[in-house]
Amino acid sequence: MDSLLIKGGVPLHGEVTISGAKNAVLPIMAATLLTKEKCVIRQVPNLSDVQFMTEILQSLGASVRFDGNVVTVQANKVKPVGDYDLIRKMRGSICIMGPLVGRLRHARVSLPGGCIIGTRPIDLHLKAMKGLGASIGIEGGYVDVKARRLVGGDVFLGGRAGPTVLGTANLMMAATLADGVTTIESAACEPEVVDLAYCLSKMGAKIVGAGSPTIVVTGVKELHGVEHEVIPDRIEAATFAIGAAATNGEVTIKGARPDHMHAVLDKLSDAGVKVERKGLVLTVKRGGRLKPTDVTTLPYAGFPTDVQAQMMVLMAVTPGLSVITERIFESRFMHVAELARLGAEISIEGPSAIVKGGRKLSGAPVMASDLRASAALVLAGLAAQGTTQVNRIYHLDRGYEHIDAKLRGLGARIQRVNQQ
Ligand code: EPZ
Repeated sequence: MDSLLIKGGVPLHGEVTISGAKNAVLPIMAATLLTKEKCVIRQVPNLSDVQFMTEILQSLGASVRFDGNVVTVQANKVKPVGDYDLIRKMRGSICIMGPLVGRLRHARVSLPGGCIIGTRPIDLHLKAMKGLGASIGIEGGYVDVKARRLVGGDVFLGGRAGPTVLGTANLMMAATLADGVTTIESAACEPEVVDLAYCLSKMGAKIVGAGSPTIVVTGVKELHGVEHEVIPDRIEAATFAIGAAATNGEVTIKGARPDHMHAVLDKLSDAGVKVERKGLVLTVKRGGRLKPTDVTTLPYAGFPTDVQAQMMVLMAVTPGLSVITERIFESRFMHVAELARLGAEISIEGPSAIVKGGRKLSGAPVMASDLRASAALVLAGLAAQGTTQVNRIYHLDRGYEHIDAKLRGLGARIQRVNQQ
């Protein structure tokens, strides 16, 4: 199993280019199931989650070919049941449900397994399918969604923590091939949902309102093939921006979409970080003394939960008291105990973490628990004096393409080691 060895204390300097967005490419790869025709997706990041999705599409009968960052999928013939273990392993694979129901009027997918950041039920996904007239059965660890006829309808998708991103994606995809009009209320507004809608529209779907809480889909008879370039990863860009500030460096971030990052860039400037923007290029550096800043995670366009852990690292190295409140996932503070190993002073009060920042961090062996927690541990290791070993980095490889090589390009002393 791989680990990362980090010799900290070196400010990050230089340029980094952002990869395609994991959370856009997964539903877009699933959307290729909606047509028999060839789909070419560009800017696809080389991630283990993408590899998983590839194997899932192949288990459903699609042919998938990778060529660098370009994936070509042809789902000429597909079946409604995919590989149980593969689907169970990656939560994101739930987004094959909508396309299968849309195309075949049937999907039989294994229930997603447990997740360390929260219970993550799929009740809203099932509500969405029922909203189109499908019946739901759960047995043998599978959820079975069947519809003799798929009929458009009005569905309110707001839940305990607000809208659901992949729930919106699933309903939007199924509705593209339903009879009549579907109106999704309290839809997720994330840029990844907009990118999916844009790709579906290029396939011949009729969708208006993506990016707003109300999306209207008018069903069509069939969809055709497409060529699509995935949007850049705003979470990866935010991770590098915070890395520049936490290590007191200066990083130029290329190929990002700053217009997808307003909440993060706004909080960084509140914290005294200097963010210069020229078109699609961001330059981030510490603009003097950092200031403690309170953050609450919210659905888009609010502060993303996927940047909460990384922002906590910045507040841990910032003198003063900050309160970070997690409103999306109920147990997304696994990184707190590991950051304490590096000397951070953080206590948890219900949905909030109280960060007493400013203490010097010192390197130590730490354990990654989930994707974004592992990114935070890497940033903390870079900001700390001494050596940090981040174990179980398979979590990191799920969502960051070549992160250690990119960081070395910015002057970081980081290397991947294989632990027997
Ligand atoms: C997407 O997950 C992302 N994953 C997550 O990124 C991200 O954290 C999340 O959206 C929120 O922004 C992908 O796109 C692959 P949700 P998703 O359904 O769609 C509750 C990362 O680090 N909920 O929007 O699964 C749920 O429990 C990952 O890249 C229900 O209650 O998240 C949560 O509290 C982690 N019932 C909230 O809604 C449901 O049926 C938002 O979840 C569905 C969700």
